[in-house]
Amino acid sequence: MLLYIHIPFCDVKCPYCAFSSFVDKLDLQQNYTTALIKQFKYDVQKHNIKEFKTIFIGGGTPSQLDIKYLEQIFNTISPYIKSVEEITIEANPNSSSKQWLQDVKDLGVTRVSFGTQSFHPEKLKFLGRKHSRDDGINALTNASLVGIKNISSDLIYECDIDNEALLKEDIELALSLNVNHISAYSLTIEKNTPFYKTPEKRKDNTNLAKFVIDKISQKLPMYEISNFGTHKCKHNLGYWRYEDYLGVGNSAVGCINNTRIYQTKGLNEYIKDPIKSKQEILNTQDINLEKIFLGFRSVIGVDINILSPKQQKRANILVDENKLYFQDNIFYNKDFLLADEISLYVGQ
Ligand SMILES: C[S@@+](CC[C@H](N)C(=O)[O-])C[C@H]1O[C@@H](n2cnc3c(N)ncnc32)[C@H](O)[C@@H]1O
Ligand code: SF4
Repeated sequence: MLLYIHIPFCDVKCPYCAFSSFVDKLDLQQNYTTALIKQFKYDVQKHNIKEFKTIFIGGGTPSQLDIKYLEQIFNTISPYIKSVEEITIEANPNSSSKQWLQDVKDLGVTRVSFGTQSFHPEKLKFLGRKHSRDDGINALTNASLVGIKNISSDLIYECDIDNEALLKEDIELALSLNVNHISAYSLTIEKNTPFYKTPEKRKDNTNLAKFVIDKISQKLPMYEISNFGTHKCKHNLGYWRYEDYLGVGNSAVGCINNTRIYQTKGLNEYIKDPIKSKQEILNTQDINLEKIFLGFRSVIGVDINILSPKQQKRANILVDENKLYFQDNIFYNKDFLLADEISLYVGQ
C-alpha cells in the first residue's frame, strides 16, 4: 500500500497550475492538519492497513506548511511506516531552507522533489515563479549538504520562451548540483488557470522535446515519459504498477481494491468533514486500459496476461514493427513519446 498526503498551501498561485492549492489560507494549517489526521486514522482502520511501502507528500507546497504540523502528521503515521522504503516530499526552492531540509530529513524523509522549473531569471518570470536562480541553486545544494541522498528537480519545457541553449543550461546546471533525478514536464495549458487565456505561452515543439529527452538521458536514464533518474521514484513506480494507494487531504485521490476514492476538493468543506469521499468502482475494461497506458508510458511495460487475444495480436504486430519488445511475458515500449498512440492501438 502506498500513501499520498496532500498539502494545499502555496505562497503564490502560479499561472499555469491547476493543482488544489490556496495562497490565503495559511491560518487554517492547524485545522487542516487535524482534519487530515482524522481522515488518515479513519481510513487505515476502514481498509485494515498495517503498513505503507512508500509515502509521497505533495501539493500545493509541503515546504509552506509549518514544520510543527508535519511533525504532527509524522507522529500519526509512524506506527505504519516501520518498513517504509521511501518518503518523498515536494518543496519550492524559496521555502525550503537548510534548516527545513534538515528537519524533514530528521523526520524520515529520504527524497526531496524540488519545483525548480528553471534557473533562468526570464523564464522564472514567464512562469510567474517567486523564487530566483540563486534560490534554486541554494535549495539543491543544501539538500545535498544535509545528506539527502535522493534529490529531484522539476523542469517545465515547451514554453514560448524556450530554446535549446536555455534548456541545455538549465539541465546542465541541475545535473551539476548532485540531483539524481529530473522530472521534465511539457507545459500543459490547464482550464481555469490564467495561462488558459494565453495558450500561446505553450510552444509545441517535438524537436525541442526530443532535445530535452536526449540531453537528460545522457546522464539520467529515462524511465517514464516525464521522468529520468539513476534512482527511480519508488512511489511513482508503485502507481504505474497499479498498486493500491491511500490518498489523504483535500482533493486527494486513492485507489483501493479497484475502487477509486476522491476526497472533497474545497478546503473548508474538507476540514468540516474529512471522512466524506466519493467512490467509483472501476470496471474491468477501465482497469485494463489504465494498466496499458501506465505500462507503455514507463519501464513497467504491459504483462501479456492482462491482454485479450485481440490485444495480444496487436501488441505482437508492434513487436514486428520494432515499436515494442517482448521479454519474460511483458511487452515494453521502445519510445515513450509514442506511448499514447501505442496504448490506444493495443487497448482498443
Ligand atoms: C504539484 S506541483 C508542486 C510542486 C511545487 N509546489 C512547486 O511548484 O515548486 C509538481 C510539479 O508539477 C509541474 N506542473 C504543475 N503544473 C504544470 C503544468 N500546467 N504543466 C506542466 N507541469 C506542471 C511543475 O513542474 C511542478 O513542480
Ligand atoms: S506550481 Fe507549485 S507553487 Fe505553483 S501554484 Fe502549483 S503547487 Fe503552488
